[in-house]
Amino acid sequence: MCGIVGYVGDSKSLEVLMGGLRRLEYRGYDSAGIAVIDDDGALNTAKQAGKLAMLSGELDAHPINNGSTGIGHTRWATHGAPNNENAHPHLGDNGRLALIHNGIIENFSPLKDELLAEGFTFESETDSEVAAVLLGREYQRTGDLAAAFRAVVERLDGAFTLLAVHQDQPGVVVGARRNSPLVIGLGDGENFLGSDVAAFVEYTRRAVAIGQDQIVTITPDAVVVTDFAGNAVETEEFDIAWDASASEKGGWSSFMAKEVSEQPDAVANTLRGRISDGVVVVPELTEFGDEVLAGIRRIVIIACGTAAYAGQTAKYAIEKWAQIPVDVELSHEFRYRDPVLSDDTLVISISQSGETMDTLMAVKYAREAGAKAISICNTQGATIPRESDAVVYTHAGPEVAVASTKAFVAQIAALYLFALHLARVRGTLDAAGLAEQTAELLAIPDKIATVLEQGDTVRQLATWMSDTRAVLFLGRHVGFPIALEGALKLKELAYIHAEGFAAGELKHGPIALIEPGQPVFVVVPSPRGSAHLHPKVVSNIQEIRARGARVIAIAEQGDAAVLPFADTVIHIPLAAPLFEPLLAVVPLQLFAMELSVAKGLDVDQPRNLAKSVTVE
Ligand code: AGP
Repeated sequence: MCGIVGYVGDSKSLEVLMGGLRRLEYRGYDSAGIAVIDDDGALNTAKQAGKLAMLSGELDAHPINNGSTGIGHTRWATHGAPNNENAHPHLGDNGRLALIHNGIIENFSPLKDELLAEGFTFESETDSEVAAVLLGREYQRTGDLAAAFRAVVERLDGAFTLLAVHQDQPGVVVGARRNSPLVIGLGDGENFLGSDVAAFVEYTRRAVAIGQDQIVTITPDAVVVTDFAGNAVETEEFDIAWDASASEKGGWSSFMAKEVSEQPDAVANTLRGRISDGVVVVPELTEFGDEVLAGIRRIVIIACGTAAYAGQTAKYAIEKWAQIPVDVELSHEFRYRDPVLSDDTLVISISQSGETMDTLMAVKYAREAGAKAISICNTQGATIPRESDAVVYTHAGPEVAVASTKAFVAQIAALYLFALHLARVRGTLDAAGLAEQTAELLAIPDKIATVLEQGDTVRQLATWMSDTRAVLFLGRHVGFPIALEGALKLKELAYIHAEGFAAGELKHGPIALIEPGQPVFVVVPSPRGSAHLHPKVVSNIQEIRARGARVIAIAEQGDAAVLPFADTVIHIPLAAPLFEPLLAVVPLQLFAMELSVAKGLDVDQPRNLAKSVTVE
């Protein structure tokens, strides 16, 4: 959950590191720090609690020398409060070595005791400083940073990406990774390291993913990757599909506003090249093996947070179209409940970042238990796809705002592509059925654009409700996971207690929460496509209205039945029932965003959160 940057090349480390940290700040922003070996061979460091702006202020007040070699870190605290002492980098070898870390070193305590017994001292309460002091001790024994790394990583348990520089080795940055992200950026006379490609995309779009338990040494003209034993390993270069501007705000007031507006393209780009003449053919799945897919008897979807709600939505479509049982589980629950898995089980992980530790560990567990694993991911070169048998990338582009929006709709689109590809392979949908659903899917981008045109209505609603203290969300069938997602958005963006319920559950308890003025969003199923459910949900609206609730209905264009009973109706275009979630979620995203703005909160970097939760 931290942002990491490394650089070797010309004497511009400060610019590269600070620019990279700015683009990685969404990964964690409790503190930030940098270390630079200047042109005189001295190691300069600066670190500051708070957001990156605080470090920039510190550097303005107390400038450090620039240089050709450097590392940078923006932190989401795990061990130790977010203060200056616990900020990275941490030092070793009597201040001659600097180290930064992303992850959790689970056995740091006995290692710290060992070092204390040898007379080493510590400035912080972090697990990361233990790695720095340990590396310094090993450097004193080996005189070489890569060799010191090999000695250290064998002693560490847990998840880590480590980068280090030593003032005796200018022009060298060494990194190591286990269960935590690290990618290489290849330049001309310069090379880069980063938690993800956003760290260096403005300098190069050539990248190399680093595999599990590997060590990388970068110099201006060379990149060497080995395993932990020092044996050279093969690497694979890839081109970064988006440019630096894509990861900038582009004139929008926030990354979230930009990304909500990009949802039509996020879906369209995810569908691109995977549907032709009404037939879904996902190349990544064909490569995985249609015969393997045909042998699958059960699917388990694993994910966290918003990604899990995408999975819950897709469950309805996969079961209906491919007629195969689907369970949806939270990764962190699945991993530790001894699930029953077999080689005809397919585990589908969903992860925007591809680095969520809970999901990564669950994927590893599932594969070790014999299940096949496919990942749905938005980040090229991320760890979870590399730990899976196949990956279907969503092409939503970089999602910088901590609250996930365009990745969510892209995940549903990718899962629907999977469901239709599987239905074709299993023969559970004929050509006409496939063509009907693909036509619905292809129409979604324009329909999302239509919903976005109601932004002003939602903004006005949010202004009226800016003093709201609790909001309920109701949904039925595929509307239920959307109610859950709407509640999550409001919690994480406006810091308001919010809860999503299955509408049918209301009378079994939650209706006790209804009191005069209680705001309730209701995702109303289509009166056309869900004629059996629509009247039930309208009855729910009447029941809560009778008790004074303030009802905001998300309903299909032309649904007259809700008008008499809702205080506000936000209309969505007509769509087949299984496709309504892609439209109904948009007003809920907008509402949470506008309420956050109305309350003067940081809509892109909400308190306590990080974009990628890379610790269990
Ligand atoms: C989404 O708004 C949240 N920030 C969070 O629930 C997120 O969806 C979850 O942590 C999973 O992240 P991932 O998709 O990168 O795995």
